[in-house]
Amino acid sequence: MELLQNDLLLRAARGEKTERVPVWMMRQAGRILAEYRAVREKAGSFIQLATNPELAAEVTIQPVDLLGVDAAIIFSDILVVPEAMGLPYEMEEKRGPVFPNVVRTIADIDRLRIAEPERDLKYVLDAIKIVKRELNGRVPLIGFAGAPFTIFCYMVEGRGSKTFSIAKKALYADAEFSHTLLQKITDSTIAYLKAQIAAGANLVQLFDSWAGILSPAQYREYSLPYIKQICDAIFEVPLTVFAKGAFFARQEIGQLNCSVVGLDWNMDPAESRLLIPDKTLQGNLDPCVLYASFSQIKVEVRKMIETFGTQHYIANLGHGVYPDTNPDKVRCFIESVKEYSESPAQTSSIG
Ligand code: CP3
Repeated sequence: MELLQNDLLLRAARGEKTERVPVWMMRQAGRILAEYRAVREKAGSFIQLATNPELAAEVTIQPVDLLGVDAAIIFSDILVVPEAMGLPYEMEEKRGPVFPNVVRTIADIDRLRIAEPERDLKYVLDAIKIVKRELNGRVPLIGFAGAPFTIFCYMVEGRGSKTFSIAKKALYADAEFSHTLLQKITDSTIAYLKAQIAAGANLVQLFDSWAGILSPAQYREYSLPYIKQICDAIFEVPLTVFAKGAFFARQEIGQLNCSVVGLDWNMDPAESRLLIPDKTLQGNLDPCVLYASFSQIKVEVRKMIETFGTQHYIANLGHGVYPDTNPDKVRCFIESVKEYSESPAQTSSIG
């Protein structure tokens, strides 16, 4: 058994008592930090950085040293899975990810393979091993993957979109195509998460970033069953399901075989506790709060912790931190969580 000096995140995820609320931030390893931008410059491009295990490990650890978060998350992207299946992506400056080829027919699906992580994603596994060595037990390491529906969106659409109408059209027009592709992505994702865990990831998170574009009925047919397969297959470490915008599916997500449910800022904490009574919750500060004054950030963090409570809870933003956020505001967020969530502060003190 690995001995961690700070295992707050894992204890909270397992539903055990914590002396204060653990805190980390989605997209903590990234452009908010000048130190990240310097390493990215050295690497040349996002993809060169992500595929270089030494450099990916370096930027993974930066937020632990520079921001004081209670966990590292491996620096990578959800789109490495389609690439491992045979569909390479490019990262265009300002525009984001683009797939030169897209998946539109059963024949396109047949040309894809189920990812073999030890071969196709070895660079991520190597980065995880370096991070684990260099962290030396300071904090846990989070692994991750996109949820099958979100990956499906990019593979079919070929690029980011506000509506993903081409991908959604496939759901309505061709259920067989959609389920076949979703299953292939699911099989790849299970293999990938298991490989991340074997390499040293202490917890894994599924990002269903585009969950909110589906109707409840479509979510039930095209996203939840695949997330369920992943939850049932991953038993080695705690798993977090973060389905952005899926406020309508909280109860069903809460019944999955996962340890933690991630919430975005549209989801009310008290209502979410009622809908998801027996899991740890993670979230959900609006990333825009970090544009406010230091004093306002403290007020909002205190409110958030008061509504969630200090147990069965992991503090985070409701989505990734925006790249133009001042790192001092991020530090204020992290420090405020630590300050307000120490257990003694909960027992009301006089004077
Ligand atoms: O710190 C961390 O959270 C780990 C790193 C991480 C990245 N992407 C690095 C990245 C994680 C967890 C992701 C997940 C990811 N990637 C998601 C799911 C989470 C979410 O935000 O909903 C999605 C949808 C993607 C796809 C993606 N990657 C987009 C749409 C973009 C372009 C938008 C942007 O932020 O630039 C990326 C690029 C990307 N992934 C960057 C980083 C640091 C920026 C590229 C750069 O540094 O040049």
